[in-house]
Amino acid sequence: MNAVEVQSLHKSFKDLDVLQGVDLRIPSGSIYALLGSNGAGKTTLVKILSTLLPADSGTATVNGFDVSTEPQQVRASLSLTGQFAATDAVLTGWENLVLIARLRKQPEPQKIADELLEQFDLTDAGTRKVATYSGGMRRRLDIAMSLVGNPSMVILDEPTTGLDPQARIQTWQSIKSLAESGTTVLLTTQYLEEAEQLADRIAILHEGTIIQEGTLEDLRKLMPAPHIEQVVQQATLEDIFLSLVSSPNVSEGAQP
Ligand SMILES: Nc1ncnc2c1ncn2[C@@H]1O[C@H](COP(=O)(O)OP(=O)(O)OP(=O)(O)O)[C@@H](O)[C@H]1O
Ligand SMILES: [Mg+2]
Repeated sequence: MNAVEVQSLHKSFKDLDVLQGVDLRIPSGSIYALLGSNGAGKTTLVKILSTLLPADSGTATVNGFDVSTEPQQVRASLSLTGQFAATDAVLTGWENLVLIARLRKQPEPQKIADELLEQFDLTDAGTRKVATYSGGMRRRLDIAMSLVGNPSMVILDEPTTGLDPQARIQTWQSIKSLAESGTTVLLTTQYLEEAEQLADRIAILHEGTIIQEGTLEDLRKLMPAPHIEQVVQQATLEDIFLSLVSSPNVSEGAQP
């Protein structure tokens, strides 16, 4: 079963055609990385999936619900953690979690807050104001907040942008444990290493369409053979990405 199915999705802002026929299928319970350069349309796509933005044409379903005709069911089945932190800095981590649990009408908000703080290694920090947190702690709290109410899918828009390497690795750990508990995770990233480390499948959004999609192994097979011989080691996702987005043949070949 697919958590997300997207077919020929189009979205323009005035003259700017951002999504020009996006097709996407995300298997339930997997970690799926949507990769693309600045301005490729990653945030636009996840906003459409979370019903924050209407598409111009095409269809998208989340957990079987249509984003345009069943927005409430879609919203109830997913949680979006935006590109910019949604926590309230004057509250403590614990208070933020209790607040969101109340908003989502959970039966035991305080118990949920305690459990999530522990799960994200924030128990000690939980009594401090979020204003005093490091970037990595804030990001982990963000992800913890997105889990309140056990959504079956979590969308993380650039979960580690701006974090130092150590905080990034901690956040990756949190994302991995999310997926181990059965949650479908869709993350957008500009960090190829992030997709490489985390994702079961990777899609590359470029010039309005998904130009390639597959497992890291699938994508590796696309690397031109001479280049692989040249570097001897296996191609990194960075090599693959750069070769794909700079090769007109590949992107044309992927168009219907
Ligand atoms: N509300 C809007 N009105 C007009 N243009 C917009 C709007 N939202 C996004 N755009 C434009 O659409 C394009 C795609 O933006 P989007 O935010 O989806 O990219 P992105 O892949 O998330 O980029 P980044 O990696 O920088 O977050 C950009 O050129 C952006 O300027
Ligand atoms: Mg974005």
